[in-house]
Amino acid sequence: MSDVRAAITAIGAWVPDYVLTNKELESMVDTTDEWIRTRTGVVERRILRDKDKATSEIGVQSVNRLLEKRGMKAEEIELLLCATTTPDMVFPATANIICDRVGAKNAFGYDVSAACSGFLYTLATAAKFIESGKYKKVVVVGADKMSSILNYEDRATCIIFGDGGGAVLLEPSTEGNGIMDEILRSDGSGCEFLHQKAGGSLMPASLETVRNELHYVYQEGKTVFKFAVKNMADVSEEIMNRNNLTADDIAWLVPHQANKRIIDATASRMGLGDEKVMLNIQRYGNTTNGTLPLCLSDWEPRLKKGDNIILAAFGGGFTWGAVYLKWAYDS
Ligand code: UT7
Repeated sequence: MSDVRAAITAIGAWVPDYVLTNKELESMVDTTDEWIRTRTGVVERRILRDKDKATSEIGVQSVNRLLEKRGMKAEEIELLLCATTTPDMVFPATANIICDRVGAKNAFGYDVSAACSGFLYTLATAAKFIESGKYKKVVVVGADKMSSILNYEDRATCIIFGDGGGAVLLEPSTEGNGIMDEILRSDGSGCEFLHQKAGGSLMPASLETVRNELHYVYQEGKTVFKFAVKNMADVSEEIMNRNNLTADDIAWLVPHQANKRIIDATASRMGLGDEKVMLNIQRYGNTTNGTLPLCLSDWEPRLKKGDNIILAAFGGGFTWGAVYLKWAYDS
């Protein structure tokens, strides 16, 4: 392997203004603020209510913030990858729409689909372009407008998710910082427990699919929960062991924000106290591909050069994984 590592050198994140509280959900479905808080950890989530705005809006706002922070022009971006489960359209890729809207005229781009693990998969993919030596400025967007595929009459799913996301810039580093290792896994037999039935080539949209409410998130929560707890904890422990990291060596765990109980189980397996775990599920809910960049953005002011950070996720597919990185800059 080359000495060049892919380091995150800037972050931008964005959530829409509208706050959908547990209290408001109480008036929409048969639920309670208390149930949602204790079973998931979510207190409120953001919703992109503008009918003419989609996932690309989250990406555009995030990338513009990132460019401003880094003092960089959009034309300098060489590649932009977008991890999303709610692309603006079936095609073209949302990455292309974001590139056009931010003015990334010299970039090529494409989307990566790996449900809630999408940002991790995409970060690992983007890192390879940097490590190859050929690319110097690669942007990874993780964004979802989950409200576009939620049934707000289904209390088992609509209470969990929210809209939002973020973007990170990857650049080469020869200082020993950046992405050090990744473990990525998938198991397609998990498809039956978490998916969207219609809208793809298997079941194209029709009057019948709309009438039967097949364009919404379908989740067998209990089963997904069991797989998530085991696999996210397993892979986080595995990446620690493989890199000879003890709990003391780790500055932060950045976990996918699907359920506080899953996060607690992962942190406990890693031997980490709450003070080392990024948690913002109470404010945003599960933004699918948006959770990890939203965490990094919220905690950016506290991150220090050389910090050992583990990112971990689990999601539909099933997909799951962990990334180990050394933070590359002091804020
Ligand atoms: O990010 C992608 C991966 N996704 C995940 O990681 C999500 C994993 N799953 C979960 O987080 C949890 O399974 C849920 C939060 C979705 C559900 O929590 P749970 O503790 O597994 O609840 P449950 O599905 O076992 O349901 C327990 C009870 C049921 O009632 P009965 O049958 O015991 O009478 C449900 O009908 O809670 C009921 N219930 C609710 N009650 C009030 C389900 N949703 C609600 C609700 N409010 N919103």
